[in-house]
Amino acid sequence: MSNKGAFYIFLSGTLASLAIFLFLTWDTHRQVGALTNADKLSEQVVAGKHVWEKKNCNNCHTILGFGVYYAPDLTKVYDRIGPDAIKTAVMEPEVVYADSIRKMPNLGVTEQEADDLVTFFEWVSNIDNNDWPPQDRSMETAAQRRLSASGVSPGAAAFKEQCMACHSIGGAGGSNGPALDDIGSKYDAAAIARYVRDPKAVDPASRMPAQGSISDDDLQAISDFLSKQRGEN
Ligand code: HEC
Ligand code: HEC
Repeated sequence: MSNKGAFYIFLSGTLASLAIFLFLTWDTHRQVGALTNADKLSEQVVAGKHVWEKKNCNNCHTILGFGVYYAPDLTKVYDRIGPDAIKTAVMEPEVVYADSIRKMPNLGVTEQEADDLVTFFEWVSNIDNNDWPPQDRSMETAAQRRLSASGVSPGAAAFKEQCMACHSIGGAGGSNGPALDDIGSKYDAAAIARYVRDPKAVDPASRMPAQGSISDDDLQAISDFLSKQRGEN
């Protein structure tokens, strides 16, 4: 082939690629409004975005690929765990993630801010991002195991109801009784259950009132939950 022939093949190939690239770019931009549901960008969505920025959630999380790869990607978190579990994760992380190795911090998010965040996540989850970034399925199952339908594990939920008025974990809860962040190092589940029914049987000096009205099921769930608290907070 002559030099000239090669040049024209090069030139037409380059121009054709350029034309395809420009067309695809234009075509994508043409669809941005529809793909992102721009018309559903309400004030509350914007408020949620501001909370996201103010609290620097992307110091640990990614959304649409932006952020830090320490914690789960939250692009589709609304589909994954739903509004109630999001609120619980954000407002009571020390309870939900008490058993986790990687901790989500309590950032002092208010009820209003949590609602705004939920609306923001709902909007983001409806963006048609052509399945990008890929969702990490292993994170999904780990998180879902922890965030059961009620938002917290049964043991954590029962602890919150029955014990948190007097005891704290991770700084959340009452101070009438001691913090129980490290109670798993002191007592196993059976000893905790015995303690709750009859504190003096386990520790003759105990000032805790016996909790007689709590159901056996709740007590077992609470004891299992507490026996895993080994001072990581
Ligand atoms: C210091 C790091 C850090 C920061 C900052 C942080 N998170 Fe998290 N977050 C985590 C970790 C770690 C987990 C997962 C814990 C686990 O699964 O054991 C998590 C879990 C979550 C989950 C549940 C995700 C799922 O798929 O189950 C939500 C929702 C969430 N965070 C929202 C937020 C929001 C909103 C903010 C900002 C207000 C925020 N996080 C700030 C570390 C962080
Ligand atoms: C009315 C307040 C109150 C409630 C409710 C309460 N506790 Fe206590 N608890 C205390 C006090 C006070 C102590 C400290 C007893 C002492 O050492 O004198 C204590 C101690 C304990 C201890 C021993 C801590 C240690 O380090 O030795 C355990 C375990 C415990 N509580 C579990 C529970 C569980 C589980 C529940 C819920 C089912 C519960 N408590 C509900 C007040 C309460």
